[in-house]
Amino acid sequence: MDPKHLYLGIDLGTSAVKILLVDEDGKVIRTESREYPLVFPNPGWSEQEPEDWWKAVIDGVKAIMRGIDPGLVDGIGCGGQMHGLVILDSDDNVIRPAILWNDGRTFREVDYLNNVIGKQRLSELTANIAFAGFTAPKVLWVKNNEPENFFKISKLMLPKDYINYKLTGVHCCDYSDASGMLLLDVKHKCWSKEMLSICGIEESIMPGLYESADVVGCVKPDVAKQLGLSGNVKVIAGAGDNAAAAVGTGIVGDGGCNISLGTSGTVFISSEKFRVDTNNALHAFAHADGGYHLMGCMLSAASCNKWLCEDIFGTSDYAGEQKNIEDKDLGENRTFFLPYLMGERIPINDTDARAAFVGMSMDTTRKDMILSVLEGVAFAIRDSVEVAKSLGIKIESSRICGGGAKSPLWRKIIANVLNIRLEIPSIEEGPGYGGALLAMVGCGRFSSVKEAADSLCGISAVIYPDETIQKKYEKKYGIFKQIYPSLKSLYKTMKEN
Ligand code: XUL
Repeated sequence: MDPKHLYLGIDLGTSAVKILLVDEDGKVIRTESREYPLVFPNPGWSEQEPEDWWKAVIDGVKAIMRGIDPGLVDGIGCGGQMHGLVILDSDDNVIRPAILWNDGRTFREVDYLNNVIGKQRLSELTANIAFAGFTAPKVLWVKNNEPENFFKISKLMLPKDYINYKLTGVHCCDYSDASGMLLLDVKHKCWSKEMLSICGIEESIMPGLYESADVVGCVKPDVAKQLGLSGNVKVIAGAGDNAAAAVGTGIVGDGGCNISLGTSGTVFISSEKFRVDTNNALHAFAHADGGYHLMGCMLSAASCNKWLCEDIFGTSDYAGEQKNIEDKDLGENRTFFLPYLMGERIPINDTDARAAFVGMSMDTTRKDMILSVLEGVAFAIRDSVEVAKSLGIKIESSRICGGGAKSPLWRKIIANVLNIRLEIPSIEEGPGYGGALLAMVGCGRFSSVKEAADSLCGISAVIYPDETIQKKYEKKYGIFKQIYPSLKSLYKTMKEN
């Protein structure tokens, strides 16, 4: 039967935007993807042009709507890369390129926030401490380094909220994404007046706050025409990409886990009640289902494999690079890779850290290097799982999504390094699918995010750890854990010289 209602899910990622057209039964009927440039103006800096995101969204939505009756599309939901600072002047012009979640320039501001304001106070105000990628340190960086830009700020927003603003004209943000700004009182779901004042900004420049499935407005008539949509398409507030991905893989309610293997690598632990990591190693954020979550985030995950394959080996045939790696190789590799290409957030919070291959010898092969990268990322994901374990959280299974999760080999390595069951979602589109599900809730197709996820998110396969491989990886992880502490002081010296 032909669908009567359609929904658009947008995943505003770091390398590309992915757009899904989903029918009322949750079936993905079309996808479109558009890449945009990612610029590293200085080592450890990372920027994008918000206009490039918007152009990519226009182009992708237009393409996905070709031949589709515009009257069928009820709603749009966006999951977006978190933490990025987008600032507009009083004429709604973008003041400077967005400073992204994996940008490490704010080490001085982070130091000020964590050590002068103090971690304890930050945690009381926001449930989190400062990390370089968070938004508040970036606001301070602009204030300290580009005062001419700082004084022009009339609206401050996150990446997906720029898309929502272009679509609707409503300056909005949802709680899951707002949590990563270090400006939100996460527990009470309101802006922290004290944090705004610490950053020298007025509440009037901040977006209005919404739950993720709340409708914030309709697509503006001129924009609807440009996109090939009808005039009454609802736009919901959406979510940070990790919360949207968790919705899209069915991780809502209490105690579920989702691992995302995208440009970043995250471990997302859902919780009905608000809770803080007493050491603030894991982020304590709101979830898109109305609850909360704890999250560990590593800055370079699938991007490490992309970097090695594309930039170093000059190939985009990832599967080809992995095809000769067999079960007997897993846990036997003597080459290790420390995946800190952009510094690292959890567990070390160190913008100076850099990637390293360790243990190479004359017989090291290209295959060993590829394997070491897949393993190094898995070990770094394990670091976040270990922090969760230290808080008494048991993770026995997890869903997994993101570009890297398409590799059967990488999934097997992760299941064994973490020694958990990995559930493969039947629809692996993560944030985009979560965005579409949230739009369904906003448009009344489901009465809650939980109902939508429970009805539509199944699993297609389960990967179990293998005892022999898992034991070998246990030993290898013991070695991996020693690499960063051995290099730490060297990174400082390298920075100073
Ligand atoms: C989460 C984080 C990343 C980005 C990637 O804290 O920084 O996962 O959201 O898009």
